[in-house]
Amino acid sequence: MTKLSVNINKIATIRNARGGVLPSVVEAAIQCQSFGADGITIHPRPDERHITRKDVLDIKPIINTEYNIEGYPSVDFIKMVIDIMPEQVTLVPDGPDVLTSCAGWDTIKFQDYLKEIISEFKEHGIRTSIFVDPKLEMIEGAKLCGTDRIELYTEDYASQYIGDKEKAIAPYILCAKKATELGLGINAGHDLSLENLAYFSEKIPELAEVSIGHALISDALYFGLEKTIELYKELL
Ligand code: PXP
Repeated sequence: MTKLSVNINKIATIRNARGGVLPSVVEAAIQCQSFGADGITIHPRPDERHITRKDVLDIKPIINTEYNIEGYPSVDFIKMVIDIMPEQVTLVPDGPDVLTSCAGWDTIKFQDYLKEIISEFKEHGIRTSIFVDPKLEMIEGAKLCGTDRIELYTEDYASQYIGDKEKAIAPYILCAKKATELGLGINAGHDLSLENLAYFSEKIPELAEVSIGHALISDALYFGLEKTIELYKELL
């Protein structure tokens, strides 16, 4: 079954709006896991605008599922991840000034760079995943980087889903087949929601994990966290 990793960045965004401690990201992570989430994802950024370095440390001891840390592999990020030893690290190419992840890696241009970083994480026993656009050459490039998994960037799928879902999913099916052929595990994320998740999951049976933040935390405002996690899990 596809695992649901809940991205709790948005909890930190709400907390930071007042500069205090509410809502607590640690409590949110505990609750998500107790309601059935299969993992917790965070994406610390250098400006700490949502998840802070302290959050990364504070969350670690309460993880009883899988801890997935996403981010741009700066020297600081690499060191922090190796100190924390999460189950998975997901490498994203975006710089410090972007609002949210907005593109996958060019796994051909940055192959040597990624290879070196991935081998360092793997030496420490941390599973690696790299964020990629749904393009066959990027999947082949990812394999040559030595990563365990890819995370398919699903923004294009989500934005085209309403207009033409068959067209929207087509490149993802091809890339998932290629990744499986090459022995790569498949994760996916970005803009997945209660509306578009079921079709994605049905068409990509190889899917190991999705990480979902924005839509899930928004849905939780209306349905509550427990019910929301249950609804997402049903779609997987
Ligand atoms: N995957 C990556 C690499 C991301 O950067 C994000 C957003 O932090 C997500 C998945 C989750 O996207 P969303 O918040 O739209 O569910």
